[in-house]
Amino acid sequence: WMRFAPYVRAINALKKETDAVVLAHNYMTPEIFHGVADVAGDSLQLAIEATKVRQQTIIQCGVHFMAETSKILNPQKTVLIPDSRAGCSLASSITAADIEKMRADYPGAQVVSYVNTTAAVKAASDICCTSSNALAIVEAQPGDTVIMTPDGYLAQNIAALSSKRVVYWEGACIVHEQFTAEELRAYRDSYPGVAIIAHPECPPDVVAEADFTGSTAGMIQWVKTNKPPKVVMVTECSMSDNVAAETPEVDFVRPCNICPHMKRISLENILWSLHSGTEEVTVDEALLEPARRAVERMIEVTN
Ligand code: 13P
Ligand code: SF4
Repeated sequence: WMRFAPYVRAINALKKETDAVVLAHNYMTPEIFHGVADVAGDSLQLAIEATKVRQQTIIQCGVHFMAETSKILNPQKTVLIPDSRAGCSLASSITAADIEKMRADYPGAQVVSYVNTTAAVKAASDICCTSSNALAIVEAQPGDTVIMTPDGYLAQNIAALSSKRVVYWEGACIVHEQFTAEELRAYRDSYPGVAIIAHPECPPDVVAEADFTGSTAGMIQWVKTNKPPKVVMVTECSMSDNVAAETPEVDFVRPCNICPHMKRISLENILWSLHSGTEEVTVDEALLEPARRAVERMIEVTN
């Protein structure tokens, strides 16, 4: 922490001076999560918080689609991302034209797109979802068939719980697709009694092995509520580091799958972002309204 302290102090001072707020995803490293985030959360919490921001500038500590979502919800505000190359394998797996092709294949089916998508894909969709509300959103759609994009595993995990026929795009998260059911069984053998909790971007056989599945915020809540003696969080590495700092009584087994996109964000580039007012996130004027409609419809169903 000693080496982080000067950055943390400088960022927190500059935030006040420049009327900025830091929205940080749960996958940020502990020095960002605990040191400079004004709000930390999962994708849904960050989207909801983005609708309540009073400051003129949002520093999005997360990946590009999250910053776009903040901009879509706050077109009059300045949204900065410390490194605009922070992408997402799900967001880059599908285009608006692909959505139109799926609509043609399944006429009349509503398109539910994960927030891990570009503004153009959101604008082409009927409604968004996140990992924490996907089932409720799918269930709320009219008709028997729902199109889910772009995460094929999330879609299959939701299909297993849903009364709807779910057809889906086959994108995947490069972090969660790496986990295997075999690996989870090996944890149970090595650490008898261990609690295993997984993110729904994992393959269905991995989710089937887990004791609980939920969004990053759902996973954190589960650990804080149940306080298992030993736990494996089957998701991005920083989650265990962040929760461990708050739950010293829980022992974390830490498989480490890093999201290289999330890890592009650092204290250094947050400070530079605040100082220089870069990199500004913009969304095509024509996409703002339809993309906002898809995000707002999601928030309405969730509330
Ligand atoms: P949630 O935090 O919404 O569960 O999303 C996980 C994720 O992979 C975001 O990139
Ligand atoms: Fe995308 Fe996966 Fe990284 Fe999240 S963890 S930003 S879903 S690649």
